[in-house]
Amino acid sequence: MGETLQSPRGFHDILPPDIDTFRFVTSTVRDILRLYNFTEIITPIVERVEVFERSIGEATDIVQKEMFVFTDRKGRKLALRPEGTAGVVRAYIQHKLYAQRPYHKLFYEGPMFRYERPQAGRYRQFHQIGAEVFGPAEPLADAELLKIVSDILEALKVEATLEINSLGCAECRPAYREALKGFLEGVSSHLCKDCLERKDRNPLRVLDCKVEGCREATKEAPKMVDFLCQECREHYETLKKLLTEMGVDFRENYNLVRGLDYYTRTVFEAVSPKLGSAVIAGGRYDYLVEQMGGPPTPALGFAVGVERIALVTEAPPLKEKLYFIIPFGDVIPYALKVAQRLREEGKRVEISYRKGGLRKQLEFADKIGADYAVIVGEDEMREGVVTLKDMSTGRQEKVKVV
Ligand code: HAM
Repeated sequence: MGETLQSPRGFHDILPPDIDTFRFVTSTVRDILRLYNFTEIITPIVERVEVFERSIGEATDIVQKEMFVFTDRKGRKLALRPEGTAGVVRAYIQHKLYAQRPYHKLFYEGPMFRYERPQAGRYRQFHQIGAEVFGPAEPLADAELLKIVSDILEALKVEATLEINSLGCAECRPAYREALKGFLEGVSSHLCKDCLERKDRNPLRVLDCKVEGCREATKEAPKMVDFLCQECREHYETLKKLLTEMGVDFRENYNLVRGLDYYTRTVFEAVSPKLGSAVIAGGRYDYLVEQMGGPPTPALGFAVGVERIALVTEAPPLKEKLYFIIPFGDVIPYALKVAQRLREEGKRVEISYRKGGLRKQLEFADKIGADYAVIVGEDEMREGVVTLKDMSTGRQEKVKVV
């Protein structure tokens, strides 16, 4: 035998029973999005690298350090998608979806790739299920999107704090950026190496540095909310009012800036205190469609980190009881008929493929979590019944199935 092959670092298999939680997350989110009339879109896993450079931003960690980039046989530069929004925006423009209706509500699900340092809840291949809304500039759209996030958390029974902030717009952010830069200049001796670089290129990112020294140094930093122009302020205030009216709990976090450059106005994260990180995140990106070559189109969205949120939720047990059929003797056609009938009734059924004594078979039934063992011998076949053994009580009785 050769050496045991391992999956690449940060790339992981999702095995049973974890896959049940994974699917519980995606199906729950899908069901909720359907109630809000979202429809699905599937975009390629690979895009031209510019799709991400022009959206996520050239100065971001994702584009600078975390993308899997490669050239194809014709020398074209391609990248594995690090997130879903950029590809959906590219498709929205390419297929002129904006010409079809005043707004679109789309969702997607699939693997994303980031060359990050792997740790619990952080992988190089991970999955997102995300939603994007194209068209509305109104704060009602932001409020409803956050209501969806809150519905998801509730349906999955995930404890998380919904943090919100406003990053302003092209009108008001430049003045804030300058004020922040000036402030950071003054505290630069306390900043980490990364932040010393960020403070000129991408000063807002300094605000969410996890290094204690940087956190301490930016405590008194100017806040974006104090710089919002009239329109951004009204948008933000209306959003908060709507959330309160809708009963959506939230907390303002003035340091919430997000790791992608396309955001304007509303940004948010659902942060799990257990994990100390975001399980769902998103915001508004009113310039991105235009920036990528489409008509000016306000837009907003979020993505659920499926593996991440799966760490703090649990799939309920399957509703359908499991029946394990144990045939003894020359009864296979009859046993198969029994199996068929039980499945028609919506039960989960396994038939034992192996011959063996009753004790061994029952041990196996127990191991796979069967609710009932269905013993089918020649006597049972003659009488047109089966012996049904309740695995939890041990009680058994003859019942008619076919
Ligand atoms: P993001 O914050 O980069 O936003 O990712 C969204 C979520 O994906 C995170 O909150 C986290 O749960 C999960 N996630 C991110 N990186 C990893 C990783 N390496 N391993 C496991 N989970 C991870 C976006 O991607 C935006 N496209 C969200 C959005 C949609 N904004 C507007 N529309």
